[in-house]
Amino acid sequence: MSAGAHRKQAKNSAFLDVCRRLPTSYTPVWLMRQAGRYLPQYRKVRRRYSFIEMCKTPELAAEVTLQPVDYLGVDAAILFADIMLPLEGMGVEFEFAEGEGPVISEPVKSLKDIRKLRVPEGGESAPYVMETIKIVRERLAGRAPLIGFSGAPFTLASYLIEGGHSRNFIATKRMIYNEPEAFRKLMGKLSDTLSNYLIAQVKAGAQALQVFDSWVGIISPLDYDKFVMPYSKRIFKKLKHLDVPVIHFGADTATLLERMREAGGDVISVDWRIPIDEAWRRIGYDRAIQGNLDPTILFAPIKIIKERVRDILKRAASRPGHIFNLGHGVLPQTPPDNVKAMVDMVHEISARGAE
Ligand code: CP3
Repeated sequence: MSAGAHRKQAKNSAFLDVCRRLPTSYTPVWLMRQAGRYLPQYRKVRRRYSFIEMCKTPELAAEVTLQPVDYLGVDAAILFADIMLPLEGMGVEFEFAEGEGPVISEPVKSLKDIRKLRVPEGGESAPYVMETIKIVRERLAGRAPLIGFSGAPFTLASYLIEGGHSRNFIATKRMIYNEPEAFRKLMGKLSDTLSNYLIAQVKAGAQALQVFDSWVGIISPLDYDKFVMPYSKRIFKKLKHLDVPVIHFGADTATLLERMREAGGDVISVDWRIPIDEAWRRIGYDRAIQGNLDPTILFAPIKIIKERVRDILKRAASRPGHIFNLGHGVLPQTPPDNVKAMVDMVHEISARGAE
């Protein structure tokens, strides 16, 4: 098959169509963390600037947003930014420690700290992000749609309370169980800030949104219902009138899928700890689905990668509404050639029909 022959359909429409469960002539694919350290062209820019400088300089953020679109030929671009950025507008100081992720200078400990947090309007929490979106849309010139994003209230609350990444999330759970009203107040402020921020991204030109609840898998179903669902639901409800598809992402969520569906999202993202057909059956075929290749499969020989890609496509059974993706982000050590080979495989195999 000649390169690009899968594109019977305009590249710009396949991803957006599939989010709405419309039939497409091939399975669109994009990857979480598709812009990042596994790409030599990213590392070249990163050598000269810190990660936060890159996020805050729209020219640079736009450049690295486009790198995987050019190199991999993916069906969507994702804004280069971070889930932590809108917290600055709430009055929170943080930095990115090398190889460790975000670190908050003064973690939130009490109701008093939570009362001090502001709820910024619109794009006010991170204005440079809106500028990046405008530049990216211009440069994409219809080659692929642009996905905007934010963290979900629970994942951001856990960073604010723990002060960084955590293994057992003891401080977060301690607040949930000992000061539930304080936790609820924090979740309420986060959901308002995040919906304002996401609405501003759409006004600036984002054509789809993804809400990252990366650490929600550490919550029990009971606590999800009581402490997470109402606040995630509030965001998805506020985004409904915008008429852009919204993806709801979580990891380690095999036991929470029905609940994530109820909280909202046109597309539910699924990691690799559950077969995608089983996940879709549980979520319901009236929602689109995204996933679910294990990111470490990209370290395997091409033959094995192909087997696994084929398996996922077979399980998705050409039902309208499957976006191919990893179950979580591309790891920094991943060989870029394998990533590119995987994207090409998805396009070629799905255009032929999953055999
Ligand atoms: O997906 C993309 O290509 C878009 C860019 C993007 C980044 N972060 C860039 C980034 C997106 C969508 C995010 C979201 C994000 N940030 C999440 C949710 C997604 C997920 O992985 O669950 C989370 C939990 C964060 C918080 C965060 N930021 C962590 C844990 C880290 C460190 C990880 C590490 O491997 O060092 C970051 C830093 C970060 N965000 C990098 C990138 C490219 C690495 C920065 C560098 O170049 O040093």
